[in-house]
Amino acid sequence: MKKARIIGTGSYLPERVLTNLDIEKMVDTSNEWIKARTGIEERRIAAENETTSDLATKAAIAAMDMAGVKAEEIDFIVVGTITGDYPWPATACLVQQKLGASRAVAYDISAACSGFVFALDAAVKQIQTGAARKALVIGSEILSRIIDWTDRNTCVLFGDGAGAVVLEAAEGPNGILSTHLRSDGTYWELLYQAGFGARNPASVEGIEQHLPFLKMQGNEVFKVAVRMLSEVAQEALTANEIEIGDLDFFIPHQANRRILEAVAKRLKLRADQVYINVQSYGNTSGASIPIALDEANRAGRIEEGDLLMFDAFGGGFTWGAALVRW
Ligand code: ACO
Repeated sequence: MKKARIIGTGSYLPERVLTNLDIEKMVDTSNEWIKARTGIEERRIAAENETTSDLATKAAIAAMDMAGVKAEEIDFIVVGTITGDYPWPATACLVQQKLGASRAVAYDISAACSGFVFALDAAVKQIQTGAARKALVIGSEILSRIIDWTDRNTCVLFGDGAGAVVLEAAEGPNGILSTHLRSDGTYWELLYQAGFGARNPASVEGIEQHLPFLKMQGNEVFKVAVRMLSEVAQEALTANEIEIGDLDFFIPHQANRRILEAVAKRLKLRADQVYINVQSYGNTSGASIPIALDEANRAGRIEEGDLLMFDAFGGGFTWGAALVRW
């Protein structure tokens, strides 16, 4: 079977920076509390006229430029997002239109903060089966539009952004070595958006009850996230007979510095293996891993042959890991 290899990375962060000091003026919180509990210092917020497909398209163009791939060569576009431009059609179809990628099959994956790893898995399988030769995998979110900006428990955590990779079918040892996905719907109520869908259709009362906003039981999410992120990472290592010390980069979903430190401790990762940029962008959900990957890649830190792991956890619950030989 062919391997799927990452041949380009890209990301896009909106210009507007919202600092902890800005949020101090909006809700009863402090820069010190946010930094101590989450590691976050600032996040980006999309401009009023920017949409999730705009962010996704900019990240995709950057990844395609790096890969030297044209839109008409793309066979498959998958976007991991929970904040698409519309409930439907898929944001991936809007990206397809904006890129002019007329040959591509395009759809979205709803796996919250695990969206990129789940989308990557879908694209890898398209390539392994020969259904696609070149694929675009994107994580793009405008979480600021589903945040209750009066709720200090959640509004300090999230940010907007997009990241993308171009995958190509390749021979040889380098590429995505394996993907490992898990879900457990019994936890769905710990992290979700209550409106507006078939359960709670659009209504004035629903708006008054803040139904269209993200709801979360943060401390419960925290505990399960640490356990599942560690377990699935270990599963990926075991499946490939790789020791944790052999990883060059562990690139986790950037939820919260304390979650990442707890996972690193459980897995016995060295600090220099773990890539953290949550201080600059907050939790960008499905976009956080490809943004971090692109940042490390463009800084020239990743070399051919390096071993990378992506590790994600999100609403659903969903979680998963991918192991990559660069
Ligand atoms: N500023 C000041 N005080 C606050 C704030 C705030 N922004 N938010 C909550 N508090 C208060 C609470 O009201 C509570 O006060 P009380 O003791 O008087 O009731 C106190 O701080 C402690 O609240 P906890 O929720 O227990 O605080 P915790 O240490 O768990 O930190 C946090 C909260 C940061 C949300 C943490 O639980 C967390 O990061 N959870 C993971 C959530 C997450 O990352 N979700 C993202 C999606 S899933 C994922 O990406 C992995």
